[in-house]
Amino acid sequence: MSDAAAWDARYAEGAFAFGEAPNRYLESLLPRLRPGMRALALADGEGRNGVWLARQGLSVTAVDWSTTGIAKARALAVRHGVAPDLVTADLTRWETPAAAFDLVAWIFLHLPPADRAVVAATARRALAPGGLLVLECFSPAQKGRRSGGPRDPALLWTADLVREHFAGLEILECLQGTVLLDEGPKHQGHAEVVRALLRKAP
Ligand SMILES: C[S@@+](CC[C@H](N)C(=O)[O-])C[C@H]1O[C@@H](n2cnc3c(N)ncnc32)[C@H](O)[C@@H]1O
Repeated sequence: MSDAAAWDARYAEGAFAFGEAPNRYLESLLPRLRPGMRALALADGEGRNGVWLARQGLSVTAVDWSTTGIAKARALAVRHGVAPDLVTADLTRWETPAAAFDLVAWIFLHLPPADRAVVAATARRALAPGGLLVLECFSPAQKGRRSGGPRDPALLWTADLVREHFAGLEILECLQGTVLLDEGPKHQGHAEVVRALLRKAP
């Protein structure tokens, strides 16, 4: 079973695994968002973040390798009367035009180190001058907690990894610590995360 198939199986269970509301950290960026901005939601799963961005008037491209996730994202978008561009693709092979997005959202995408470096390069390249990259991912301290995240510690994020993968971007904030998640059945309770907001030079 490929990893995409594993995500298909998870998303086929019924309810939206991470809820239908956007990630709270992404939502906190609302004052920085303007209608017409171009957003890229990486690994958007069932679409909660891409659909929310589209509802704010942004022009959204959302990518995930799970066909079941993308189908649920499409249904969520229809329900909210928005039409993000939904792409089914493996992000390690997906190519995007350079400097095409004003916002890149990297929310709970955990990849093996080599793949992480490839997709981070894609994210950096995708950002337009002045564009923002927002990231929330689990950190190693999440081990033992039951509020979500991968079991393999190699997939987890640290503030140092953010600085390494996104060197060259200005760090507006980069926090590693405990938050309270309330995101669907799979992300509930205290969790150890990295939250980062970065900006490409104008
Ligand atoms: C924890 S879920 C997060 C989904 C979404 N970002 C959210 O916050 O609701 C991780 C997502 O990453 C996707 N994913 C993992 N590796 C991927 C890859 N190589 N290419 C595309 N999507 C990938 C999975 O299919 C899954 O939807």
